Amino acid sequence: MSKFISIRTDLPGPKSKKIAQKREKYVAKPMGSSLSPCYIEKGEGALVTDVDGNQFIDLTGGWGCLAVGHTHKKVVAAIQDQAEKYLHTDFTAIPYESLVTLAEKLVKLTPGKIPKSAAFFNCGAEAIENAVKIARAYTKRPAIVVFENAFHGRTLLTMTMTHKAMPYKYRFGPFASEIYRLPFPSVSRPMKNVKDFEKILMNTVIPESVAAVVIEPIQGEGGFNVPQEGFLEYLRELTKKYGILFIADEIQSGIGRTGKFFAVEHWGIEPDIICLAKSLAAGMPLSAVISKNEITDSIPGGCIGGTYVGNPIACRAALEVIKIIEEENLLERAVKIGNQIKKRFQEMKEKYTIVGEIRGMGAMMALELIKDRETGEPATEETAQVVQTCVQNGVFVPTAGIDKNLLRMLVSLEITDEQLDEALDVLDQAIGSIG
Ligand SMILES: Cc1ncc(COP(=O)(O)O)c(C=O)c1O
Repeated sequence: MSKFISIRTDLPGPKSKKIAQKREKYVAKPMGSSLSPCYIEKGEGALVTDVDGNQFIDLTGGWGCLAVGHTHKKVVAAIQDQAEKYLHTDFTAIPYESLVTLAEKLVKLTPGKIPKSAAFFNCGAEAIENAVKIARAYTKRPAIVVFENAFHGRTLLTMTMTHKAMPYKYRFGPFASEIYRLPFPSVSRPMKNVKDFEKILMNTVIPESVAAVVIEPIQGEGGFNVPQEGFLEYLRELTKKYGILFIADEIQSGIGRTGKFFAVEHWGIEPDIICLAKSLAAGMPLSAVISKNEITDSIPGGCIGGTYVGNPIACRAALEVIKIIEEENLLERAVKIGNQIKKRFQEMKEKYTIVGEIRGMGAMMALELIKDRETGEPATEETAQVVQTCVQNGVFVPTAGIDKNLLRMLVSLEITDEQLDEALDVLDQAIGSIG
C-alpha cells in the first residue's frame, strides 16, 4: 500500500501529454529527453506532484541540487524576502552583504587553517573553468590533470576535462589543449600501489608543467567511485612535491551529501581550491570557488567575474541552505539515509544476480547492474528498463556511470525514512521484474 506515491492517470497523464506536444515543436531537441515524461506542478521535500495530480518520490533531487529538498520553507521565505528588495545589481556595480556573508560562511566551513576567500559563479562548469584559470595564472603553468570517468561540465574547457565522449563531446571539437587524463584508482578498481601513480603522471606529462589536478573526491556522473584507500592523501602529497594545485570538484559530492560538508574531509585533505555548485543554493543557479588567498590574491582585480555571478536571490538561498544543514543536523541525516539505502541495496544484491557493486559514501550511494557477476558486463539496457519501471510506479531515479548501468541516489536529505523505504520498495520490485 503506497502512502506517498499516488498514480491516478496513465503516465504521462493528459495534461503532461499536451505540454509534451508543445515541447516537441518548440524546445531544442539536443536538450535531450527528460527522465520523467510527466511535467511538474509542485514539489515539497522529496515529493513531486505532476500537472495531472500524480504524486511521485523524487530520488533525482534535480540531479543532486536539492540536499534540502524541494521548496524548503526557509529557503522560499528568504527568496521571497529578497525578491521584494532587489533582484540584481551585479556585485561589481552595487555590492550587497549576503554575498559577503556567504563567502565568510563557506570559508569558515572549508577544511584547513590557511586563509581563503570565495568567488561566485552561476553553475558548476563555470566554477571549474574559473578554478582552472586561477590555477594557470598563479602557477604560470599550462597543463591540467583530470581523471578517467570524470565529469566536470559541458563548456568547451570542461567538456574536454569530462571523460565520456557521447553525448558530451559529440562533434564539438576541437577541444581545449593541455588536458591530461589519468586513471582514478577506486575501491572497485584499485591500483597495486597508490604510489605507482607518480610514474603514471611522469609518463604522461612533465609534472613541472602541471598547474593543477582537478578531482572529484567521489566521482558523480562517472559512477560514484570512491577513491582507493590512501589515494587522495598520496595525491595531495604528490601535488605538493611538484608545486601542483589540488582542485577538489565538490559540485556533486559537497554540501553534506556524503555526511561531511565537503567529501574531502573524510580523508583530512586541505585542497588549494574547492568548487561547489548544485545543492549550494537549493536549485538557484549559484557556484563557488573557494581558494587560498595566496593563490587568488595573485590575480589582478576584474580578471574573473560575470554579469549574473553571485545573484542576491541565490546568495540568500545558499545562506539558508547552510543554516538548514546545521540546524537540522543534515550531515548526520545523510549518514542515516546512506545506511538505510546500503541495507536495502545489500538485500537486493542477495536476491538478484543482476545487482553488482554497491558504491558510495553517506547518502551518495549507487547500485550497479551487471549482466554477469563473473565478467561484470554492464547491464545498460536493463538499467534503463528499471528506471522506466520505477517512473511508471511513481519513483524518479537517476542513472550514472560511463555505461549508464548504475542507479544513483541523489535524494534530498529531507526525505523521511518511510518515504525512502517506499521508494526503495519500488526500486526493488523494478529490479526484481527484470532480474
Ligand atoms: C562533479 C561535477 N562537476 C561539474 C558539474 C557541472 O555542473 P553544471 O552542470 O552546473 O555546469 C557537474 C554536474 O553534474 C558535476 O557533477
